[in-house]
Amino acid sequence: MGEKKIALITGANRGIGFETARQLGGQGIKVLVGARDEEKGKEAESNLKNEGLDAEFILLDVDNAETHAAAAKYIEENFGKLDILINNAGIAIDEFENDAPVQASRTSLDIFRKTFDTNFFNTIAVTQEFIPLLKKSDAGRIVFLSSGLGSLNLHSDPNSPIYNFKIPAYDISKTALNGYAVHLAYELKDTPIKVNAAHPGSVVTDMNKSGEIPLEEGAKTSVDLATLPADGYTGKFIHLGEELPW
Ligand SMILES: NC(=O)c1ccc[n+]([C@@H]2O[C@H](COP(=O)([O-])OP(=O)(O)OC[C@H]3O[C@@H](n4cnc5c(N)ncnc54)[C@H](OP(=O)(O)O)[C@@H]3O)[C@@H](O)[C@H]2O)c1
Repeated sequence: MGEKKIALITGANRGIGFETARQLGGQGIKVLVGARDEEKGKEAESNLKNEGLDAEFILLDVDNAETHAAAAKYIEENFGKLDILINNAGIAIDEFENDAPVQASRTSLDIFRKTFDTNFFNTIAVTQEFIPLLKKSDAGRIVFLSSGLGSLNLHSDPNSPIYNFKIPAYDISKTALNGYAVHLAYELKDTPIKVNAAHPGSVVTDMNKSGEIPLEEGAKTSVDLATLPADGYTGKFIHLGEELPW
């Protein structure tokens, strides 16, 4: 198949995912703009194309396995491989009371389950669907959008900036995702595929209206991990080139 690199980014219609698609497109990579809503996905595609980028919407609802299979079939038939998978889509649905997140003793199982379905179980399902195509690339890269809030080391350190910032279902779904990244990296360590977890920073998006850094910087870690060289690392938790504690 062709030399051009193919990247699939989930949840690429807005936020960090959209900016990641923009930056990867700027490197001459063909970006498949994963979105669960056709209208929003096509709008993102046309915004990227207007910037001269090679972008194409692809229907992908993380919570709908049929869309995973259809997307994989389309990619197989049209490109024969996938070079980069960025598991970017995610949700933060913890409830708030008096401006503070509901804490661990009272977070409902429903909130835990819904959060884990999208951020953990169904993200694993997406990844498993695309691994055969990533194995057909000579430089497969898998990026998991984690969060510093998934770090148990930071959460248990009273001196850490996140010590008093606990959003139980969201945080722990990212801790679990980190665990999956480590296990998958181990399994694939003797292949060209590199698997890493990204902390994008506290980025201004719909999910994080009080974020501190702009989208451009927030997408950088995903882009770096998606384009690691052949001798780059695997199985790490990274923010802007620095390793974070699990
Ligand atoms: N912003 C931050 O400060 C920050 C910090 C640490 C980690 N992160 C992580 O970075 C990733 C991107 O966050 P963001 O801030 O860009 O969030 P965002 O602005 O809320 O965007 C989330 C994206 O995920 C998509 N999405 C959600 N559920 C989906 C599903 N079931 N199937 C397909 N797409 C789905 C959304 O699509 P719709 O438009 O259809 O809803 C949207 O495109 C997330 O994994 C988040 O946890 C963000």
